[in-house]
Amino acid sequence: MITLSKRLETALAHLKGADLLADIGTDHAYLPIMAVKAGFAKRAIAVDNKEKPLTIAKKNIREAGLANKVDTILSDGFSNIDQKIDVVSILGMGGIQISEILNNAKSRDWKRLVLSPNSEARNLRDWLENNGFRIVEEDFVIDKRKHYQIIVAESGTMLLDDLEKEFGPLIIKERSKEFVNYIDTLIRKLDHALENAKQDSQKHKITTRIAKLKGLIE
Ligand SMILES: C[S@@+](CC[C@H](N)C(=O)[O-])C[C@H]1O[C@@H](n2cnc3c(N)ncnc32)[C@H](O)[C@@H]1O
Repeated sequence: MITLSKRLETALAHLKGADLLADIGTDHAYLPIMAVKAGFAKRAIAVDNKEKPLTIAKKNIREAGLANKVDTILSDGFSNIDQKIDVVSILGMGGIQISEILNNAKSRDWKRLVLSPNSEARNLRDWLENNGFRIVEEDFVIDKRKHYQIIVAESGTMLLDDLEKEFGPLIIKERSKEFVNYIDTLIRKLDHALENAKQDSQKHKITTRIAKLKGLIE
């Protein structure tokens, strides 16, 4: 039986209504399996650019009894995918890598993107803004003491400032307890760095950053 982590469980809820889901960088294929099992996706393809994860993905799909509804494809991003995908999930990669995968897709005719960059979220939101997407939902998740941002985007326009690109416009707006605690921890680390800073330019940089972060949660 598959038990999803809090991060994957949160992402799963955003996959509702998919005709054909493509989970790029699927690894174990937990997300497409559970999306089809929950009835959120009619069919899914589990995509990875390495043989080894796909072998495990195939085994998990077989054991879930979903071999007729979840296919596996060995592919670098979308390069070997010919089907019309309406919902795309890409989780657990850096934001620059996710942006490159999206940028290299032959078609961008997607209904929804569900993305979770494990770094460089700013670059990913920048790509979305510059490529005709707007953020419609976001989550800030703490899972096993690590923090994750989940970004749901659809076609449209948006204009984000620097902090919104880094932390997420809807995450900032929601100000969840988890997010406030996370920003608080960042501020405390910077306070400590400020005490040890020697040069004025360094002190100025840290002070400015602290003020910006405080502005997010006060
Ligand atoms: C850290 S795992 C994340 C697995 C899963 N998405 C999750 O979040 O739990 C990243 C997976 O992406 C795959 N991957 C990396 N670059 C890729 C690419 N360009 N195209 C397809 N898969 C890729 C890796 O082989 C690996 O299995």
